[in-house]
Amino acid sequence: MTETFRHLITLENLGPTIITRILDRADNFLQHGNDSQLLAGRTVLNLFFEPSTRTRTSFELAARRLGALVVNFDTAHASTSKGETLIDTLHTLEAMQIDALVVRHKQPDTPGFLAHHAHSDVAIINAGDGNRAHPTQGLLDVLTIRQQRDDFSALTVVICGDIRHSRVARADIRALKALGVGQLRLCGPGSFLPDEDEMPGCIIYPNFDAAMEGADVVIMLRLQVERMNSDELPDTGAYFRDFGLDARRLKLAAPECLVLHPGPINRGIEIAPEVADGPQSQILRQVRNGVAVRMAVLAELLNPANPRQPS
Ligand code: NCD
Repeated sequence: MTETFRHLITLENLGPTIITRILDRADNFLQHGNDSQLLAGRTVLNLFFEPSTRTRTSFELAARRLGALVVNFDTAHASTSKGETLIDTLHTLEAMQIDALVVRHKQPDTPGFLAHHAHSDVAIINAGDGNRAHPTQGLLDVLTIRQQRDDFSALTVVICGDIRHSRVARADIRALKALGVGQLRLCGPGSFLPDEDEMPGCIIYPNFDAAMEGADVVIMLRLQVERMNSDELPDTGAYFRDFGLDARRLKLAAPECLVLHPGPINRGIEIAPEVADGPQSQILRQVRNGVAVRMAVLAELLNPANPRQPS
């Protein structure tokens, strides 16, 4: 039986079969173009309570390129600012017969909460909830790697930076483990590293040079200052010296090591411009793949040829 899913809240409960199917579908869109009628008559609503450039725009483009109608909900001027609860907002939007709700919120598990309270068969898609999950980012990152490295079990992957506040790190770890990554190294300042038991199967590296030795892929993270207390803010000069990726550090890795960063990048804080713009950088490929992955996710959840099952 084909494995199906009703909402996309986290990658925690998606196995390798379904992840691989989404990646295959995304690659297919990239190679053979869009099916501009696939989601004709469907409505996708973007509900972003946190800033976004790449994720919101790419969800909008993905939905439009498959023929869906897209509404970008203006959260700054929404009735939640007049005291309406999120549940009442959800039921109001559902009454307008939307098919998918793409939600980003600073409060972890808001998408799961909405999925739980939905009355209709609307599909809830998590576009980032606090530091908890960002499933489409995890998918686009493993797609970017898979396009260039076919055997995940042979790969040593480093994730470096502000892991504690990063939903991208959690999504990437889940996706990489599901695809059987060989070795996963987590590196960053002690205060930004997760507890050992929070990330079983990962090796913690306090020293970035040591982490980079022989790495096949390095995923850099932004300092997510919006989730830090004022006493947690690092000195950016010292941070770049100890945990910034520059050309010298990149040479410690395996030849042609892939460099990923979810964006937005802070040049000279977590990544040097010569690396961000260099030949090993995957940053713009990640952006391109982001549209294709979001098309694949919308197609999985809304395509009538692949009916959803009740959760
Ligand atoms: C990330 C996010 O919002 O979690 N950005 C993104 O979706 N491309 C990472 C970040 O903001 O640092």
